[in-house]
Amino acid sequence: MLLLGLRGTGKTVLLNEIGRNAERDGFLVSRVESPEGESLARLLYPEMRRAIRSLSGVEAAKQIAIRGLKALRNFASAFKIEMGGVEISVEPEPGLADTGDLQYDLPELFILIGRAAQAAGRGWVLLIDEVQYLSEADLSALIVAMHRIAQEGLPVILIGAGLPQIARLAGEAKSYAERLFLYPPVGPLDQASARQAIEKPIVDEDAQITPEALDLIAERTKGYPFFLQEWAFVVWNNAEGPTITIADADNSYAETLALLDEGFFKVRIDRLTRAEVQFVKAMAGLGDGPYAMADIAQAMGRSQGSLGPARASIISKGMIYSTDHGYLDFSVPLFAEFMRRQG
Ligand SMILES: Nc1ncnc2c1ncn2[C@@H]1O[C@H](COP(=O)(O)OP(=O)(O)OP(=O)(O)O)[C@@H](O)[C@H]1O
Ligand SMILES: [Mg+2]
Repeated sequence: MLLLGLRGTGKTVLLNEIGRNAERDGFLVSRVESPEGESLARLLYPEMRRAIRSLSGVEAAKQIAIRGLKALRNFASAFKIEMGGVEISVEPEPGLADTGDLQYDLPELFILIGRAAQAAGRGWVLLIDEVQYLSEADLSALIVAMHRIAQEGLPVILIGAGLPQIARLAGEAKSYAERLFLYPPVGPLDQASARQAIEKPIVDEDAQITPEALDLIAERTKGYPFFLQEWAFVVWNNAEGPTITIADADNSYAETLALLDEGFFKVRIDRLTRAEVQFVKAMAGLGDGPYAMADIAQAMGRSQGSLGPARASIISKGMIYSTDHGYLDFSVPLFAEFMRRQG
């Protein structure tokens, strides 16, 4: 699965929950977050080592796990990764995950981990957050590896999370990606869930919140988790209580917006250059998304071509993404309103 959703919609919370469930069910769980510009080989190496070491402790999986360690040793030298202690003790086996091309080596390693897990009667769950920061080559290698796993029916599953564009990126990397993955969308909470997210923590603290106050927060936040958490946080700190009223909620709205503007939204805008800020300003000036490139160019009095670099850079910073039909939209919910508040 690749969980697709805008910023602050709860993808990481879901990944962590999935990881907890998998651990509870006895799976080997590996969690990595893909930072911008880091190689997948380096990111996965420590987790693959941990998985193989853990499986090498199971008698039935020992032989395969030792072969896995040999492959890992080759992999580390092929990708110039600092090796830890244990690998040293296995003799290298030429031709095993040592090409230095992730397309070939990663599937080989995943297969060995999958076979060792199968022999040990276990499964390996790999959780990868911020998948949109993986390079096309790395994403492609990951898809090839999972394809091989599926072909051999081995107990390895990948759950990734990231911005909506990863569905298209995966499809461009490997055409069979769409058959391999489910792409569950992670959007705003529905009203009932939004109300629960607000009310339950309050009631757990032996306090109350009126239905009107709940409605106001759940509706005006459109169910976006980052937004209702922030507003509820401010209300809890400001309200006299023990019952939070609609007045408390209303009186805390401006402060909540200010907190988000200074925090959740500002951290995004600060990563943009002046020219890029002009670009997103023009987008927000056109109303709510999605936005046609032609309209943005016209609003800025520039040619579409001349805006290509800015567009590409803002996308790579995870700020905007191109929707399926060549339109653009913000990766951060309610960002256009924030921009318009900045005047
Ligand atoms: N199911 C939920 N119920 C209540 N609050 C939630 C839920 N999921 C997420 N949140 C809250 O929303 C905020 C954002 O969640 P999270 O970090 O998981 O988002 P994300 O989609 O991973 O964002 P990003 O793309 O920026 O990484 C957090 O404050 C979290 O507490
Ligand atoms: Mg996240």
